[in-house]
Amino acid sequence: MSRVFNFYAGPATLPLPVLERAQAEFVEYRGIGMSLIETSHRSAEYDEVHNGAVQGIRELLTVPDGYSILLVGGGATLQFSMVPMNILPEGAACDFLVTGSWGKKALADTRAYGRVNVLFDGADHAYTTLPEASAVRSTPGAAYLHLTSNETIGGVQYHRWPTVEAPIVADMSSDILSRPIPTESFGLIYAGAQKNLGPAGVTIVIVRDDLVERSPDSLGAYLSYKTHAKKNSLYNTPPVFSIYLVRLVLDWIRDQGGVPGIEARNTRKANKLYDAIDNAPGFFRCPVDGAARSHMNVVFRLPSEELEAQFVSAAKAEGMVGLKGHRDVGGIRASIYNAMPEEGVEALVAFMTEFVRTKG
Ligand SMILES: Cc1ncc(COP(=O)(O)O)c(C=O)c1O
Repeated sequence: MSRVFNFYAGPATLPLPVLERAQAEFVEYRGIGMSLIETSHRSAEYDEVHNGAVQGIRELLTVPDGYSILLVGGGATLQFSMVPMNILPEGAACDFLVTGSWGKKALADTRAYGRVNVLFDGADHAYTTLPEASAVRSTPGAAYLHLTSNETIGGVQYHRWPTVEAPIVADMSSDILSRPIPTESFGLIYAGAQKNLGPAGVTIVIVRDDLVERSPDSLGAYLSYKTHAKKNSLYNTPPVFSIYLVRLVLDWIRDQGGVPGIEARNTRKANKLYDAIDNAPGFFRCPVDGAARSHMNVVFRLPSEELEAQFVSAAKAEGMVGLKGHRDVGGIRASIYNAMPEEGVEALVAFMTEFVRTKG
């Protein structure tokens, strides 16, 4: 077997022990005579997987009582609409901090449902910076304040959270479970699974129960948080296989020392990579403001697009794939989610050092 170091931004690398476990029990799941994806989603076996995933998220993120954990389909993109449909009452407005491509998309969809006050828009700085957390104030009466905790394309991540009166709604698709968070400071957190949690197909929504109560009765059943909260996310057939893999990933996170253990490793990985960039000034350049540098998606430029193309293909030849920056911004992006081993980052750093030596 020769697995490469996979730096794709999502779908992204998963822990090898998780893939091996899934492979070992795929055809016949734990003595039931069939695979998990062939059994009823009302079976005892699936029930254990489903509730194990919900419980694992609750434990690992220390989600307090008074919050529901929902497992839904449609990706984080569906949440760009479901959030305002459910918790932006008619006639009310919400606040937005727009820090990159994903924030812009969430904003565009929210505008289809109600009024938005944009409190911060990083466009003037090409989305390379964040608002000063302590300076953010929500608008009096705002239904909520939406932010994107980590901008996957621009490589911008909050390291300090704003404290505001309105409930904070956070899109944590690309950094959920990468570090401890004060869950009780958020009204709603959502995250597509395919970066830190498992394969695409399931989206996690952690929502305070008083916000669930805002869901208007006029919504179709699937679009209402109330439905999923009441039915423990089993109103319809859930994405069984994705949830099963999430469950295995959560077990793996526990084995790594839980979220604090994962965070320590993520910080070491990010520091090594940013050091490699900063140690070659004039060759590598990270455009992101120092205080906002992402520990998940490390973006950087080389002196020319030609050198960037050479960098990507030479890295691929050495077993490091997925390093091309997003087409909207170009450059290089190394996504180093939870499951990227430290050896992967070390291999990339060694490759970068050698690249500067020969091309710099
Ligand atoms: C921060 C962020 N939000 C939202 C999305 C959209 O997620 P999905 O493809 O699950 O709809 C992504 C996908 O990369 C993302 O990185």
